[in-house]
Amino acid sequence: MRKVAVLGAGTMGSQIAAHLANNGIEVILLDLNKDIAKNGLKRALEINPPAFMDKEFKNFIKIGGFDSDFELIKDADWIIEAVVEKIEVKREVFDKVEKYRKNNSIVSSNTSGIPIKLLAENRSDNFKEHFLGTHFFNPPRYMKLLEIIPTEWTKKEVIEKIKEFCEDVLGKGIVFSKDTPNFIANRIGTFSIMMVFKLIDEMDLKIEEVDYLTGELIGRPRTGTFRLADLVGIDVLYNVAKNLENLLTNDEFKDVFKIPQFLNEMVSRNLIGDKVKSGFYKRENNKRFVIDLKTLEYREAINVNIPEFFQIQNMEKLEDRIRAIFSLNTKHAEFLKKLLTSILVYSVNRIGEIADDIVNIDNALKWGFNWKLGPFETIDVISKENFEKLVNSYNFPLNKEIPEKFYKDKMFYDYNSRSYKPIERRKEIIIISEIKKENKVILENSEASLIDLNDGVLLLEFHSKANTIGIGTIQMLNSALDILEKEKKFIGLVITNDDERNFSAGANLGLIAMSIGEGAFDEIERAVLNFQKVNMRMKYFKKPIVAGAFGVAVGGGCELLLHTHRIVAHSELYTGLVEVGVGLIPAGGGTKEFTIRALNYPQDAENYDVLPIFRLYLENIGKAKISSSAYEAKNMGILKDGDIIISNRDFLTYYAKNLVIGLYNAGFKGFYGPKRVRMLGWDGYSAVLASLINLKRGNFITEHDSFIIEKLAYVMTGGPDVAPGTIFDEWQILENERKVFIELVKHPKTQERIFYFLKNRKPLRN
Ligand code: NAI
Repeated sequence: MRKVAVLGAGTMGSQIAAHLANNGIEVILLDLNKDIAKNGLKRALEINPPAFMDKEFKNFIKIGGFDSDFELIKDADWIIEAVVEKIEVKREVFDKVEKYRKNNSIVSSNTSGIPIKLLAENRSDNFKEHFLGTHFFNPPRYMKLLEIIPTEWTKKEVIEKIKEFCEDVLGKGIVFSKDTPNFIANRIGTFSIMMVFKLIDEMDLKIEEVDYLTGELIGRPRTGTFRLADLVGIDVLYNVAKNLENLLTNDEFKDVFKIPQFLNEMVSRNLIGDKVKSGFYKRENNKRFVIDLKTLEYREAINVNIPEFFQIQNMEKLEDRIRAIFSLNTKHAEFLKKLLTSILVYSVNRIGEIADDIVNIDNALKWGFNWKLGPFETIDVISKENFEKLVNSYNFPLNKEIPEKFYKDKMFYDYNSRSYKPIERRKEIIIISEIKKENKVILENSEASLIDLNDGVLLLEFHSKANTIGIGTIQMLNSALDILEKEKKFIGLVITNDDERNFSAGANLGLIAMSIGEGAFDEIERAVLNFQKVNMRMKYFKKPIVAGAFGVAVGGGCELLLHTHRIVAHSELYTGLVEVGVGLIPAGGGTKEFTIRALNYPQDAENYDVLPIFRLYLENIGKAKISSSAYEAKNMGILKDGDIIISNRDFLTYYAKNLVIGLYNAGFKGFYGPKRVRMLGWDGYSAVLASLINLKRGNFITEHDSFIIEKLAYVMTGGPDVAPGTIFDEWQILENERKVFIELVKHPKTQERIFYFLKNRKPLRN
């Protein structure tokens, strides 16, 4: 699959094009005419969160108009239709596609509600065999779900090819859906929302209460139900719901899909959410208002306060929270019990109708709606017995038997054969918790584990809070290296974990704050030195060390990455040296790495103008810059040329492990070090100082910012007493890092920043 055509450059088409381009695919993006397509591309370049992982990727996209450039699709291997949701319009587009497409090219529709079969019928055999539904979710770069909807005519190879391409190249999670109204995720997801609309009225609850109850508490997005509707667009929700109301005339819950009065009214008054700044909520004069569903007038929003949920909300495990809620009989618990039970019944009843099995439904909700648990996993949590009791008490029409458990080991309950079947899984997916269960844990403490990944590869897994780096993680890293040194059978190390968000949020700041409180600065210095030592030990280790980097990898997490031999990165990598935000400089070797990377030019070159590059590295620390993708991390000099960027998060451990094996088999014996570099000395130092004066004068930075950056410049250049060209080795720079770090940690303004950050989770500019 080299070239893909996207027809329609609206919200979805332009962002699908961007995501294809993110992954190096040549794209032809067409709309009614070239100007509309151009505008669509422009919007994709400006949208937030960004659709492009690097703006340069726009060069993979060629734009054009249906009126003059349709023939461009003749080279496309896959043609994705994403024009307006109108069957006549789509049919007209497909008429043209038939005319210009090459034989055997794949054609798909991104429709969210039009039956795929109606779009395929009456077309040529070759078209029908190569046609299917591919339903992306908005925003397509970030939403993992892709629903594939084959028709009776779609060839097996075509389905397989799209699945593999979308998993491998676009990083998607695939769910197979039957050709039923709004497919899987939107069918069940909309049921959930409509049921909330029904129950809020029935049980006389407040919108704010419902958002609290249907948010993080039960493993759903933080926004809850109404706030999420504002974000997505109430009109978008309305259209899907209207489609379901019209089509589901035989549904056992068809009353739930009846659009409530307030929704009709809000859409007709254009109160459709964030894009018009008024929906269920609105903000005025820094105050939050919420709509009254009966009068459609706004009132000031309240802070939700439900005492019997205080303890539950603090339970770390979602499963425990759900069980606790199901054991309560208060009004708010009743709401949740009825809501969840109805969704679970509705899901069970849909097996065979919207999907063949429970796995596809669970995955659709987890990947398309960001539910932490799918419906069938939820039934397993509350137990068959409790579930059936509630179903009876509400008199819900459950039309299938419930097995003792839906999931056992790596098997799922298959309603077709009434037996357990293995969950199909790509060989590239390694699940760390499963390996641990197989008796593969070699060492473990409260912050980290060392695991045997088989084939001679060790895995270091962080599992501290937000995977921060503390004494335990550093200890475990040293132990891993000790074992690798001693035991011949182990050939190398992978560092990664299966967290959803954090590779590592950096050094444990709470620990530093505690030592500050006790005045134990020696202890801080020792900890910093230990981190530097273990990072240097990794850098010059004789067996390969590969990080599987993903998500948030900042501060110490980034420094660790900088000292591994290679990185296999998920394309969604948000990394950078952010220490300045809390009044510090990177002192685990991060400042040193940026320094030597900036000065990395042929050492016998004369008159090499290194200053602009040096400045970039310094500024990235000075501004606490975080990459918005792995590609940007590469532009920032954090990833190197030999590092690998992949788009499927689930494959990370597998590829990192294979890179260790590959490096070992290719004779990797480590690098020579410590490195020696020519420092910029007083030349570089005074250049930085000069620009600081301007920044301060223009009030772009505070006095303390300036103080920190001056210290940073000192470490990175050698300072005012070092002659330009003086050679330092890595340890000299590390010593200066440490010295400056301690100086800063003792500074009251830095301490203020640290304590403020710990309390408010955002940086203080003082
Ligand atoms: P949109 O309204 O943002 O874009 C539609 C594009 O189609 C416009 O750029 C328009 O110029 C173009 N178009 C091409 N031929 C046209 C014609 N003959 N008449 C009118 N317009 C024509 O729509 P959006 O949201 O990008 O949706 C596209 C498709 O994706 C729809 O089928 C929709 O159901 C589906 N979808 C939308 C999602 C969303 O969240 N917006 C999510 C998943 C699917």
